[in-house]
Amino acid sequence: MAFLSFPKGFQWGAATASYQIEGAAREDGKGLSIWDVFCQQPGRVQNGDTGDVACDHYHRFRDDVALMKRLGLSTYRFSVSWPRVLPFGFGEPNERGIDFYSRLIDELLGAGIEPCLTLYHWDLPQALQDLGGWPERSTAQRFADYAELLYRRFGDRVTRWITHNEPIVTSMMGYRAGVLAPGIRDLRLAGRAIHHLLLSHGLAVAAFRASGVKGEIGITNANTSYEPADATEESRQACELARDFDTRTWHGPVYGRGYPESVLRYYEKNDGALPIERDDLRVIAAPTDFLGVNLYSRRQVVLDRARGVGFRSAPPKLPLLPMGYEAAPFALGDFLRFVSAEYGKPVIYVTENGVCDNTAPANGAVADVERTELLRGFIAGMHAAIADGAADVRAYYVWSLLDNFEWAFGYSKRFGIVWTDFETQQRIPKQSAVFFSEVAEKNGLEA
Ligand code: GCO
Repeated sequence: MAFLSFPKGFQWGAATASYQIEGAAREDGKGLSIWDVFCQQPGRVQNGDTGDVACDHYHRFRDDVALMKRLGLSTYRFSVSWPRVLPFGFGEPNERGIDFYSRLIDELLGAGIEPCLTLYHWDLPQALQDLGGWPERSTAQRFADYAELLYRRFGDRVTRWITHNEPIVTSMMGYRAGVLAPGIRDLRLAGRAIHHLLLSHGLAVAAFRASGVKGEIGITNANTSYEPADATEESRQACELARDFDTRTWHGPVYGRGYPESVLRYYEKNDGALPIERDDLRVIAAPTDFLGVNLYSRRQVVLDRARGVGFRSAPPKLPLLPMGYEAAPFALGDFLRFVSAEYGKPVIYVTENGVCDNTAPANGAVADVERTELLRGFIAGMHAAIADGAADVRAYYVWSLLDNFEWAFGYSKRFGIVWTDFETQQRIPKQSAVFFSEVAEKNGLEA
């Protein structure tokens, strides 16, 4: 093992999201989100779990910030609940909702922790979904107007802004597969959501520049490190198709490349042509300051002409984690190299990387060894990509600070480096928290 040192100034943080940790779902004037509604629909979420209370972060945020400080985190990524600040998605702001985030930001700054604010992490106001949601073009402008409100209210203190968290999940899981809110299964609507999510990103970036707020803005995409399942030409083609649908659809337009031809053709053939209007691609390609990378695993693929997209996953070759994907710590370094080579080596923040490990407390301690060792592997791979000059990564946010509401899995999948007892709301730092705290303190690790 050698000690791997990260560049001076590299930032170590943790990430969360509003619906997954806040609770207070109907408190202090907050409007309903599509997740508040989705959780009420029988069978949608495991065990009938909801985000009504979650980690009760809305009331406990000061203690949680103190915990982050004790862990030595230098930055914290959180998201704002759009309906908490604009109950109907537009119109009169809810000042009590604005005030919650203002106090959270002040608490973070007081603790010497840099806030990283995600504008959208899946909790769309239900009132906007009732008007069509992301398939409806006007939602894109509503998003930019909401962003502009937050720039005005928090731009004096927040300097790192993320427009969207994983828009692919919103469109594909929310409007096509229907397994996440709003639970719709419609390919044409999913295609419309793809484009309007990216359009809303571009409009929000333009609003950021126009606001004169000092700071940086970017988008965070969900990523998988794709690999051909074998050395054949067919599997190489399959890998490129997977990258078209999963990576290039969401990065291409942002970096001025437009959508991949394979994707445009796929939606046209399925009566779901993306609703691209004249100036849209220029708006989406508004220059950004960084790229947020979320990644948890790799996937090997093979050609499958019987499937519309032309590829499918190959059987796993590595042990599976509780989420069903492979334990592949090398995947982060691999993807950082790929995406940096593909898009001109942008400044990157790893905005989510972590491990589902449900190890429970024993004698008051949580020995989450698997999470700790996989994190070590992910971080070592990231270090190599930086050290080789292949990627310009400047921060790493572990997902997540706390065990929290894991969407349709409810509370059955734990990603926190801190254990959350959902009965008592007690927090117990796990072995991985001790590990991560040392990495942050030493700005490096033994690997
Ligand atoms: C995502 C979301 C997070 C998840 C995390 C674990 O990447 O799916 O951003 O909200 O909770 O990734 O699955």
